[in-house]
Amino acid sequence: MGKLSVKNVSCTFQKKEDGSETEALENVSFEVKDGEFVCILGPSGCGKTTLLRIAAGLETLSSGEILLNGEKITGPDPKRGMVFQQYSLFPWRTVIENITFGLEMQKIEKTEAQKRAEKYLELVGLEQFKDSYPHELSGGMQQRAAIARAFANEPEVLFMDEPFGALDAQTRNVLQDELLKIWAQKHVTFLFVTHSVDEAVFLSDRIVVMSARPGRVKEIINVELPRPRSRTSPEANRLRDHVLKLLEEERFQKR
Ligand SMILES: Nc1ncnc2c1ncn2[C@@H]1O[C@H](COP(=O)(O)OP(=O)(O)O)[C@@H](O)[C@H]1O
Ligand SMILES: [Mg+2]
Repeated sequence: MGKLSVKNVSCTFQKKEDGSETEALENVSFEVKDGEFVCILGPSGCGKTTLLRIAAGLETLSSGEILLNGEKITGPDPKRGMVFQQYSLFPWRTVIENITFGLEMQKIEKTEAQKRAEKYLELVGLEQFKDSYPHELSGGMQQRAAIARAFANEPEVLFMDEPFGALDAQTRNVLQDELLKIWAQKHVTFLFVTHSVDEAVFLSDRIVVMSARPGRVKEIINVELPRPRSRTSPEANRLRDHVLKLLEEERFQKR
């Protein structure tokens, strides 16, 4: 049994106005093992965000189930963290207050929350900016803060929805490296959505490639490249080539 089991998940949205339906996900199944880094890759609109939102307990599925440690997911839980594409920090709170806020909501005592927030800010290299406000930080720094906030809750599973999608290519590479460093230190299971083939090949143990909408699992690929990885090795290029061909096939599917 996996840490996280996605079992025959389908999701159809119904428009209130006219009752018309959008089938976002159709019978999606896969497993994520404990401590594994799994990327979901697929064309725009294939239901990646919907799947993560269901797993995070923010959206309801039409049929199927998602299990964490064998237990059905029914709502949000601090055991499951989420990082979104938009930085989603509270603009009126300083960086450290953004982190301690969630911890205090969980009834973690103030000095402990402060200590923990500082530890994770150091881990992402933001200790000097703990008293800054989000608008005083670059996009990359804001996303670092969002990552520190997610880790500070010490979740078992982290869901990330294109967290680096809004960043420039160099910052994105730096943050990918840093994420892998933290992952090596902390025992966390990752389900990471991206539309970047490069990112999926660089980060993941396995890639779940999805079809165009309604999203289905098209292929699951084991990424057996040694870590630390080279972004440009012939093996990485071969894998990228294969994945790009899969996505290319989906471009011409009309449903
Ligand atoms: N709350 C919602 N209500 C209605 N339709 C939705 C809702 N959320 C997503 N959709 C539709 O479901 C499909 C999948 O969306 P999404 O999960 O955002 O795809 P992706 O993240 O892969 O780009 C799209 O057609 C989108 O318009
Ligand atoms: Mg999305």
